[in-house]
Amino acid sequence: MSALRFVLNGEGREERAPPSTTVLDWLRLSARLTGTKEGCAEGDCGACTIVIRRPGENQFSAVNSCLLLLPQLDGCEVMTVEGLSGPDGPLHPVQQALVDTDGTQCGFCTPGFAMAMFAFRDGGEPAEAALIHEALAGNLCRCTGYRAIVDACRKLPAAPAQPAAAGGAGSVSADGPSLGAHACGGQAFHAPATLAELMELRAAHPDAVLLAGGTDLGLRVSKQQEAFARVISTQAVSELATVRAGADALHIGGGATYTQALPLIDAKFPAFGALIRRIGSRQIRNLGTLAGNLATASPIGDTLPCLMALDAEVLLRARGGARVLKVEDFITGYRKTALAPDEIIAEIRLPYLPAGRDFAAYKVSKRFDQDISTVVAAFVLRREGEMVGELKAAFGGMAARPARAAALERALAGKPWTPAAHAGIDALLAEDFSPLSDHRGGATYRLRAAAGLVRRFQLETTLTGAPLRVEAL
Ligand SMILES: Cc1cc2nc3c(=O)[nH]c(=O)nc-3n(C[C@H](O)[C@H](O)[C@H](O)COP(=O)(O)OP(=O)(O)OC[C@H]3O[C@@H](n4cnc5c(N)ncnc54)[C@H](O)[C@@H]3O)c2cc1C
Ligand code: FES
Ligand code: FES
Repeated sequence: MSALRFVLNGEGREERAPPSTTVLDWLRLSARLTGTKEGCAEGDCGACTIVIRRPGENQFSAVNSCLLLLPQLDGCEVMTVEGLSGPDGPLHPVQQALVDTDGTQCGFCTPGFAMAMFAFRDGGEPAEAALIHEALAGNLCRCTGYRAIVDACRKLPAAPAQPAAAGGAGSVSADGPSLGAHACGGQAFHAPATLAELMELRAAHPDAVLLAGGTDLGLRVSKQQEAFARVISTQAVSELATVRAGADALHIGGGATYTQALPLIDAKFPAFGALIRRIGSRQIRNLGTLAGNLATASPIGDTLPCLMALDAEVLLRARGGARVLKVEDFITGYRKTALAPDEIIAEIRLPYLPAGRDFAAYKVSKRFDQDISTVVAAFVLRREGEMVGELKAAFGGMAARPARAAALERALAGKPWTPAAHAGIDALLAEDFSPLSDHRGGATYRLRAAAGLVRRFQLETTLTGAPLRVEAL
């Protein structure tokens, strides 16, 4: 088993550590780089933000080091706040902009803000308010210092162009490729480079934890202090990272991150793209995958209602073969799926909507950014003149699993698509769902919110020119 190899703040490193070590713990406790802070240890606050550049990529991405396992750095270039400038060197442009705008806050939040700003600048995006807010949404200051930080982002000079990082998937820049398998302290981590290797490993170790971005699984390590005996990572499998617009459907590989999938999802399903932009933060979306959201099968998994309303399918692969299931049949219960122990999600297929369909997706949460849904909904409508030809309505946050609202769909089919047709929506939704009450919302609130989303869809698809959305900023 080989050592992990990565480049940290410009210096090649070769490391051995138990694979269930978070990058944050390793940075602070082993590398003694304590500029990266721990605020929440659950991906919410951004104090632990670092930037990584994977092999073949030409820009750095911000990620939460509290959720990342050390072997996920294998083959990457990594920069922490200490890498911005030396102790006596000139300030990095990000630091200078923070100084110039009085944007520095306390020592807990500022390093994370600086690294999120570094990634924003490295991405070469225009300094538009919406993009700056999106780039900083994963960094919290409990003391409201945001305006000056947003100003600092506006003033950032352009970053110099970077050549793509050397190496292929699973390899490292400094000292040649690692072998993609690491073991230390009784824990093993496999990062196969091909789908065939992945399937062999999955068949040999059906009990191993299958890891994609780790934004769900990482919490078991950072919050519950769990150590995984054996992990198989999908990260280095290039076949799984593919996102492709086929003739009839969008094909999203089972290892593709939200950030990788977003450009094509935006192009083909803009409402789904807008919803995905509200999943966590950029730090989360740079790691998290659609496949991970599906396999977690959370009742409030944001992508599931869209996938159901859009009739998406999953391609499941095992060493001996493959099968295709509708997403609706894949999710079998509360956090339960039809995935067999030796299977993986190889691909998610999103069939294109025929012309003339209306499609919308809505998320109701306490905060606009970086929050978990109370209710999430997706609708696809086929109209026949003024009447409902077919309505597909899928909801999350209303039951143990996201599901279509069968009674609502049946009742509206063939009826006029007007507000008058909506008189009984609350009752129909109550036939479909008996939501739980929890800290995000009571059962009555959820039913009313869901009914409100149906009305909103009706208004948005029939009223033209009227602004119907109140946006943040
Ligand atoms: C701060 C924070 C904010 C979040 N915000 C949101 C949000 O707004 N909305 C939302 O829906 N979710 C949210 N999440 C949850 C999480 O980000 C998503 O569910 C994400 O899509 C998980 O993907 P991942 O690649 O990180 O999965 P991982 O954590 O790597 O894995 C999750 C599960 O999926 C399985 N899995 C992964 N890939 C495959 C595959 N190819 N085949 C089979 N099984 C697989 C794993 O074995 C595991 O059981 C948030 C999480 C955090 C920490
Ligand atoms: S410590 Fe809060 S996001 Fe990592
Ligand atoms: S949390 Fe650092 S100043 Fe507010």
